Amino acid sequence: MFHHKPLEEMVVYQIYTRSFNDSNRDGIGDLAGVTEKLDYLSDLGVDMLWLSPFCSSPNDDMGYDISDYQNIMTEMGTMEDLDTLLEEAHKRNMGIMMDLVLNHSSDEHSWFIESRSSKDNPKRDWYIWADEPNNWDSYFCPEAWEYDEKTGQYYCHIFGVKQPDLNWRSESLRAEIHRMVEWWLEKGIDGIRFDAIHLIGRPEGNPDYVHAPGESKRFCHFRNHELGHQYLQELSEKVMNKYDPVTVGETGGSTPEGARLYVDKSRNEFDMIFHLGFLEDDEFEDNPAQNYKKFYEKWYKQLSIDGWDAVFLGNHDLARVVSVIGDDEKYWRESATCLATMILTQWGTPYIYQGDEIGMMNAGFTSLDQFRDPHTTIRYRVAEEKGEDTEAVMKDIIKWGRDNSRTPMQWDSTANGGFSEAEPWIMMARNWEHINVEAQKGKAGTIHSYYKKMIALRKGDRNLAYGTMEMVDSEAAVFAYNRVYEGRTVQVILNLSSSPAAHRTADFEDDQVLISNYPSLRKNVSGLMLRPWEAVVIG
Ligand code: GLC
Ligand code: CA
Repeated sequence: MFHHKPLEEMVVYQIYTRSFNDSNRDGIGDLAGVTEKLDYLSDLGVDMLWLSPFCSSPNDDMGYDISDYQNIMTEMGTMEDLDTLLEEAHKRNMGIMMDLVLNHSSDEHSWFIESRSSKDNPKRDWYIWADEPNNWDSYFCPEAWEYDEKTGQYYCHIFGVKQPDLNWRSESLRAEIHRMVEWWLEKGIDGIRFDAIHLIGRPEGNPDYVHAPGESKRFCHFRNHELGHQYLQELSEKVMNKYDPVTVGETGGSTPEGARLYVDKSRNEFDMIFHLGFLEDDEFEDNPAQNYKKFYEKWYKQLSIDGWDAVFLGNHDLARVVSVIGDDEKYWRESATCLATMILTQWGTPYIYQGDEIGMMNAGFTSLDQFRDPHTTIRYRVAEEKGEDTEAVMKDIIKWGRDNSRTPMQWDSTANGGFSEAEPWIMMARNWEHINVEAQKGKAGTIHSYYKKMIALRKGDRNLAYGTMEMVDSEAAVFAYNRVYEGRTVQVILNLSSSPAAHRTADFEDDQVLISNYPSLRKNVSGLMLRPWEAVVIG
């Protein structure tokens, strides 16, 4: 039997399944492809694999639009492939975390087909129907409501038109969700990521959004709603408590105080959540060290009361971290390893996004037809229709578009980076001939070998796993903190900039350096002379 590690000692690795490894030459990554790479992942030292959605889907939002919750997407393989993956992962002491999308389904799900068929269909209230649209926004489209001719009503979709929102107010829908989640846990799934779960609690009567300061979207009033918390507690009581899955909720818009409600152990909701605060702050890039310091301090204060955190920099919705926070031109290796040190030494379970361990960069898109993400293309089309500045939009999506992180994993320098023998569903990112696993794995001084060493350090050092967190005063470019455990202090010092910086440290001997991303340190009487993106951990 596989038992996952304690959250403190666990390192999660996110696989964007479509783009990880293609086993059957159709240009799309699949479950058997993941199984083929398990030895690679176990060698890297990760414990839990979060796979982006593999349930049946027409892929209008790349699997985040599920048409059958208990079947495998044709492109991903079969249920037998999943069984094999589970078995082989468990043999190597790794767990599988699935991505469940429960705020909405695909419009091709049989539930929705039934629901839209007539007003008195028993599943009518499994979705949100109204005679007239209210003023809510959609993340992806100009409006959150779509008219459905058959019954003359509108249905709600906070994401795409083909992603109708499920109505969690319906008890029979919730009962069906409980049954389905239990089915997956019985099958041996080790963890669940709950997609967009901040949106499931909808206030009675779908009231119009009334503008509030600091809120941008016209649905902010029901993000992280009290009803959502009730539904999650019900799910825990009825299903989750019988098992021991690792759970993580994606909860956009949560404040540290609000986040506590999800992860406070006594409330029985989630182990941890993804809070996206730093992404919502446009100024963040300007002074990353001080901003990260404020950010982590604020969350730590609240969540450490009786909860836990998830720590990540990259995922399938974000641009590549080495390109947007790091410096992929002058200090590619240094900034990638410095940022790796940051997430792997924080208080909270670290999540590594596929390809970050070799420093994959933003793709280098040049034209709209290279994008595959409907969110990106719709955004461009809408701007075009409204006569907005499409050049500015293009610039923005080249830098921030979600497809930047969805390009195929770069395994080697053969055709298509060893991802597939067929043409991949999306183009390869620039520099794949040089930036790939083969060029780095097992070689000293590479990003990959640093990640491997840093992961082992994280898991083996009790301070890094269990220690409390203390921020340390520093120069503006430096983010420094201590992890303290049972009387021992581990100092983490990160220069999050492309310029040199100085840092005063407590006295230490050379053999106390646990890891650093330059071959040797530069010390003087008052401490360290840090080079660009230098990272040092002393214990
Ligand atoms: C989450 C996913 C994102 C998806 C959206 C709608 O934010 O991470 O990829 O588009 O939910 O399901
Ligand atoms: Ca395939």
